[in-house]
Amino acid sequence: MPTLELLRADHAKALLAFERENRAFFAAIIPDRGDEFFTRFDEMLADRIAEQATGACLFHLLVNDDGSVLGRFNLVDIADGEAELGYRVAEHATGRGLATAAVAELCVRAATEYGLTTLRARTTLANAASRTVLTRNAFTPGTETELNGKAALTYTRRLGT
Ligand SMILES: CC(C)(COP(=O)(O)OP(=O)(O)OC[C@H]1O[C@@H](n2cnc3c(N)ncnc32)[C@H](O)[C@@H]1OP(=O)(O)O)[C@@H](O)C(=O)NCCC(=O)NCCS
Repeated sequence: MPTLELLRADHAKALLAFERENRAFFAAIIPDRGDEFFTRFDEMLADRIAEQATGACLFHLLVNDDGSVLGRFNLVDIADGEAELGYRVAEHATGRGLATAAVAELCVRAATEYGLTTLRARTTLANAASRTVLTRNAFTPGTETELNGKAALTYTRRLGT
């Protein structure tokens, strides 16, 4: 059964494989990370882990039984009991409910382990899969906004309700 793990240095190999294998899939929907992310991956990973140690963000990987990475579920801009949620799932693993389940688990952890009271998310109107994931996890749509130049919606989930 896949497990949601906080990002660690020893995830490097599996994480890079996940990002490489799914680069084109992600880039068709959300902004590409850019070549530098891949050529300076070890440095970028060290930066993320250092940032995580400050408490400003919590990066999670959904790790399969064989050690491969199935998805990423991140809480960023953590402050005043709130955080912004973002996620991505490997193309071969989509459509199985993994994102819905992992976001549900992260909401529980956010409330019980991380002491957060509110999660925010944003997704483009065209991203039906992502909107489904949020709606199924009791995120409520708010104001219309723009994300990467496209029409988008903000979502909010009050935790512990
Ligand atoms: C969005 C994403 C995380 C969803 O992951 P997932 O594990 O496939 O999500 P789930 O299976 O839990 O739920 C998605 C639901 O949306 C549905 N869905 C998928 N594509 C859809 C579409 N184009 N139109 C309508 N519904 C769609 C799925 O069928 C599923 O519903 P179902 O359980 O009734 O079949 C994944 O597609 C992804 O990583 N996309 C690229 C990155 C991205 O968009 N990240 C979010 C940015 S805000």
